[in-house]
Amino acid sequence: MMERLKGKRAVVTGGAQGIGAAIARRLAVEGATVAILDLDATAASAVLPAPHVGIACDVRDTASVDAAFAQAKAALGGVDVLVNNAGRGSAPGDGMDKYYAAQAQQAAGEAVFVDQTIHCSDEGWAGVMAVTLDGTFRCSRAAVRIMAEQGGGGAIVNIASTSGVKGDGPVPYCAAKAAVLGMTRAMARELADRGIRVNAVNPGATETPIYATLPSELKDAIAADSLMKRLAHPDEIAGAVAFLAGDDGRFATGSIVTVNGGAWFT
Ligand SMILES: NC(=O)c1ccc[n+]([C@@H]2O[C@H](COP(=O)([O-])OP(=O)(O)OC[C@H]3O[C@@H](n4cnc5c(N)ncnc54)[C@H](O)[C@@H]3O)[C@@H](O)[C@H]2O)c1
Repeated sequence: MMERLKGKRAVVTGGAQGIGAAIARRLAVEGATVAILDLDATAASAVLPAPHVGIACDVRDTASVDAAFAQAKAALGGVDVLVNNAGRGSAPGDGMDKYYAAQAQQAAGEAVFVDQTIHCSDEGWAGVMAVTLDGTFRCSRAAVRIMAEQGGGGAIVNIASTSGVKGDGPVPYCAAKAAVLGMTRAMARELADRGIRVNAVNPGATETPIYATLPSELKDAIAADSLMKRLAHPDEIAGAVAFLAGDDGRFATGSIVTVNGGAWFT
């Protein structure tokens, strides 16, 4: 494995499991020192041994984010890379329970509408946005403040989703992920003069704990949708992140790298 991130100090949000944990491990293998931010510090700390660190952080809360970045800066000696991975697909009250129930009724032959929008409360909408969109902004702001203070230079990689482009997911989730792509491009333009690159990765369906909870027929149907006839392995998403975060990606900014097994083309 090349050491494309040798000497870099990286923060990965939502890195205690799934894609985030794979990203944290990959960045560490490539030579970075990593701070993993997640809701539970113990789970975050279990992913990688010292000198890597796990730090408690709720990306829904500005004070928590700013404190976690101050801790990461102190532990790593600075921040060169941020991977905004923490995301939430659904939140209580967002209408997805009604959506799934109606899907089951429809599959059973009943003439019902499969609705989310008319059942989505303000709280359900906000619950998804708070993590997936607002959290990405808050963490980017905290990282950019540190990068600017260091004299500039740095890389931000936002984990978006093919859902944000294709619309194949909960309505607030698709909206949040599409907004993350817009934010990626706006920040890329704003921060280029500071030497800070901002890119996004759009994973397709990826084998993470959430898929373990799905009925096997649904998982098979999702896998069949890709040209590779399978889900992504989290490390396949991490590889794209390492490229964008490290010097191999030094001419990439405002880019969106889709890793979806050819489920559709961008
Ligand atoms: N799994 C997929 O198929 C898939 C596809 C496309 C995009 N994504 C995106 O990739 C990212 C990771 O997905 P995953 O499947 O590994 O998710 P996951 O649910 O397995 O892990 C998400 C992590 O984020 C943490 N987290 C949740 N809320 C948080 C908060 N408020 N503050 C800090 N941490 C928080 C969780 O504790 C967890 O460790 C997400 O942004 C997701 O939307 C996933």
